[in-house]
Amino acid sequence: MMRNFISLNNFTLNEINKLLYLADIIKKKPQEFEDDLKGKHIGLLFEKPSLRTKTAFYLGALELGADSVYYTPEEVNLGVREEICDVARTISGYMDAVVLRTFSHDTILEFSKYSSIPIVNALSDLFHPSQIIADILTIQEYKGELNKLKVTYIGDGNNVCNSLIYAFSILGGNLNISSPEGYTPLNDILEEAGKHCKYSGGEINITKSCIEAVENADVLYTDTWTSMGREDEEEKRKNVFKDFQINDKLLSYAKKDCIVMHCLPAHRGEEITDSVIDGKRSVVFLQAKNRLYAAKAILRYILVE
Ligand code: CP
Ligand code: NVA
Repeated sequence: MMRNFISLNNFTLNEINKLLYLADIIKKKPQEFEDDLKGKHIGLLFEKPSLRTKTAFYLGALELGADSVYYTPEEVNLGVREEICDVARTISGYMDAVVLRTFSHDTILEFSKYSSIPIVNALSDLFHPSQIIADILTIQEYKGELNKLKVTYIGDGNNVCNSLIYAFSILGGNLNISSPEGYTPLNDILEEAGKHCKYSGGEINITKSCIEAVENADVLYTDTWTSMGREDEEEKRKNVFKDFQINDKLLSYAKKDCIVMHCLPAHRGEEITDSVIDGKRSVVFLQAKNRLYAAKAILRYILVE
């Protein structure tokens, strides 16, 4: 059966653990995997800018022996120059897998209906699952098992937050989220996560007070107040989110050895201060580096396992 990597909600505990194990082992012993995708071709089709995700999948493919073709947003112009169904069928004739970054999650779902090759979600408005594989790997490296930790996400209930919710609810972690009113994660996602939590013992808590959410946290995570595609709301959001900033004062409520994470790109002085992102608790650039191992694990998982 063809394997897609579109949302963590479609993955079991064992499958996510397998991906994490693969990422870890590929990081430690890259030479053992260098021919695994020999002769394969990977399409990288992005509707939005990217530094980390593009690099992780481009280099990841290369280091596994595959080559890749990157399509700029302008040259394909999904759904405008050409129908999504026609792009999906055309690319399926050339490539072995396609890594897709889209504005709308529906574009990925539509693409998947017509694609005969595996699809990787490289970020949509709803989810960012490849990011979260790297994030959990990072948390495990610094802090050990998820179910013994208090992890707190401060900010927008966005794509990164949604994928964190699925990961924690399936893996059985404790995730606390504090967002301004009107910007909490979607109820559908919380309900779905609630079903996973019944099996995993995970807990997803939505807390109004940032301080309460941060108290005694082992891990603090934040993301931009304004995601790509929502730029017209930027000024309004700066005002709504101003009290949802990870700064030294907020950090002082967390455990002394708490780590700070951010998927990047960061907006210094908005969701995170210079002193925190450049401070000794910050692991953001190691987190960014782990994107490479997560990307390699995902490519190997969909094409070889
Ligand atoms: N974190 C992340 O996905 O970064 P890019 O948008 O640069 O790929
Ligand atoms: N939530 C952000 C993540 C960027 C990696 C966005 O969608 O722009």
